[in-house]
Amino acid sequence: MEIKKIPWLIDPHTSAKHEILRKYLQPWMAILSSTNKRIIYLDGFAGPGEYLTKKGEKVKGSPIIAIDCYLEHSLKERIKEVSFIFVDKEKKVIEYLNEKLKSYSKENLKIKTINAEFETVVNNILNELEKDNKNIAPTFCFIDPFGIKGLSLNTISRMMNKKSCEVLINFMYEELIRFISLPQNKKNVCALFGEESKWKEVHNYKTPKERYLFLVSLYEKQLRNSCEGECYIRTFDMVNKFNKKDYVLFFVTKNKLGLKKMKEAMWSVDDSGEFTFSDFTYNPNQSVLFSNEPDYNRLQKEIVEEFKFKKVDVEEVFDYVLVKTSFLDKHARVVLTEMEEDKKISVERNGQNRRGVFPPGKTIIDFNNLNNNI
Ligand SMILES: C[S@@+](CC[C@H](N)C(=O)[O-])C[C@H]1O[C@@H](n2cnc3c(N)ncnc32)[C@H](O)[C@@H]1O
Repeated sequence: MEIKKIPWLIDPHTSAKHEILRKYLQPWMAILSSTNKRIIYLDGFAGPGEYLTKKGEKVKGSPIIAIDCYLEHSLKERIKEVSFIFVDKEKKVIEYLNEKLKSYSKENLKIKTINAEFETVVNNILNELEKDNKNIAPTFCFIDPFGIKGLSLNTISRMMNKKSCEVLINFMYEELIRFISLPQNKKNVCALFGEESKWKEVHNYKTPKERYLFLVSLYEKQLRNSCEGECYIRTFDMVNKFNKKDYVLFFVTKNKLGLKKMKEAMWSVDDSGEFTFSDFTYNPNQSVLFSNEPDYNRLQKEIVEEFKFKKVDVEEVFDYVLVKTSFLDKHARVVLTEMEEDKKISVERNGQNRRGVFPPGKTIIDFNNLNNNI
């Protein structure tokens, strides 16, 4: 996409994406800096740091959101050092961003802006560190392109396989599907999915929904396969007001607490009515809509399906809900409380016997009494 005017107009979905970023960076900064001297926020497709609304108001872009998140953090005094690296391949964009950053010059922040391609920057940083046998500081890498160019699976995989590094990728589905058949895009699509991937099979699928399910699942699989060791991936769909799949956010982490915080960030984003957020990861055919009223029946079904006729520590249930479903601990607590009241489960609490409380390490849940009505 050619950039004609800076700053450009903000879409409703961009605001939603920014809200998720803001809501995640707050706990990320606090948690990681409690055990690390330095952490890095790397904005690989940084943009100018500013957008315009239709009314002509200026709103913040991701680099400024990240900086403000640090400066306004309630635990700022405890956060040791956050380095901000902002990369954009457009000179005009970086110049605009540099201008915006001048207002922070008194804050003594560690900020670096780089006018280059994301992949070049990441690979150079990692090559240098590897040459000296050093590891990168824990990094949150935001990958937010306009299209599908310049974010090869190889580079992303290199980044996410570094210790304590996480990536949030904006997978531009709409752009991908629109241009996937053009011969001049073949190289970019191959790089996006990885050389060996089977993305060309998309042409075997007839309906838009089938093609969507195929490509999003394939991308998830490719990310998972390129992760060394266990990783957790959550994807969140953004559906626009015309009910068209627009883009999908992929969050990849090796840390369960990171996963938990990202899920909380997603659930906390207000549904503007302009966009629908849903979680694709767990069951793409039946994705969960993020709304104020969670679908407890569905969570109950998922828990029952997993644990029927078993007797397990409550941690196992919470762990399952965290890793394998779209829901949060607090939703699981509501469901377990209701199931206990309805005598669908029996709960052994070692020590205390207060309903609605499920202390870890002390609580065993017996799913043997389930009747057929569930
Ligand atoms: C969607 S905008 C970024 C918006 C920004 N993350 C935000 O939320 O405020 C994408 C930006 O990526 C830049 N860009 C495109 N291809 C790039 C590449 N290969 N490497 C780095 N920047 C790139 C564009 O110039 C543009 O400013």
